[in-house]
Amino acid sequence: MQHPIAILDSGVGGLTVAKEVMRQLPRERIIYFGDTLRTPYGPRPYEEVLRFTREIVDYLVQFGPKMIVIACNTATAVALEDIRTRVNIPVVGVIHPGSRAAIGRTKSGLIGVIGTEGTIRSKAYEHALKQLSPNIEVLSKACPRFVPLVEQGNFYSSETHEAVSESLEGLKESRMDTLILGCTHYPFLAETIQAVMGPEVSLISSAEETAREISTILHEKGKLSQGDVIPVHQFCCSGDPRLFKMIAQDWLDEQIELTPVVWQVPKIG
Ligand code: DGL
Repeated sequence: MQHPIAILDSGVGGLTVAKEVMRQLPRERIIYFGDTLRTPYGPRPYEEVLRFTREIVDYLVQFGPKMIVIACNTATAVALEDIRTRVNIPVVGVIHPGSRAAIGRTKSGLIGVIGTEGTIRSKAYEHALKQLSPNIEVLSKACPRFVPLVEQGNFYSSETHEAVSESLEGLKESRMDTLILGCTHYPFLAETIQAVMGPEVSLISSAEETAREISTILHEKGKLSQGDVIPVHQFCCSGDPRLFKMIAQDWLDEQIELTPVVWQVPKIG
């Protein structure tokens, strides 16, 4: 049996990474977990995000994954190092790959970062960007209205347009040429974000670069899947399965199988 790549997020956001993994690594099987019952993670205390991430990893480990992808910026900022010490398989986050892609794109040297309150408060992107390129300037802003809209599948309404437009105030006026979508939910709103920021600003979603990193690590470890068997992916969510399935099938443009979650997640504290 082929060992899967485990991908986790607070909800549907990690599907942006899953989709890119499916595109770049079509032989790989994915086991995905979206914690839709307890989303959003952004406003939660770090200890809670850490506990939730550990619980999901413990759940996913039962499927025998060869790698864990924390496809959530908030959980990456808080829990990446901790999870690396708890499992003996590679653990990949989304902040370093997204930062690398942005450095490769910017010409003005001013990079914008939008994300959840937790991610922005952690300054994880500032650290990652400045580690790669010390002279880079970073302008960050939390956009707490975006994740609930995405989790409702509300991508194109006037309410969403208004939320995006108001949230990006102050960024539009700067001389940034590159904007990191520092939350895996945000690519669902990319069209609206691009329309508000204007065509001269490049949007960076960490999905593509993260999939590339996954590919590199699996190649180096000799763990890339071989053969012509079309993988059957598994998707799990802790909340409303119908809404998750609808958003997932629409985004991935294919039918998905939802695995009932045997593990009962504790109610929101
Ligand atoms: N998609 C996640 C992230 O990238 C979490 C969003 C949330 O639950 O607040 O940060």
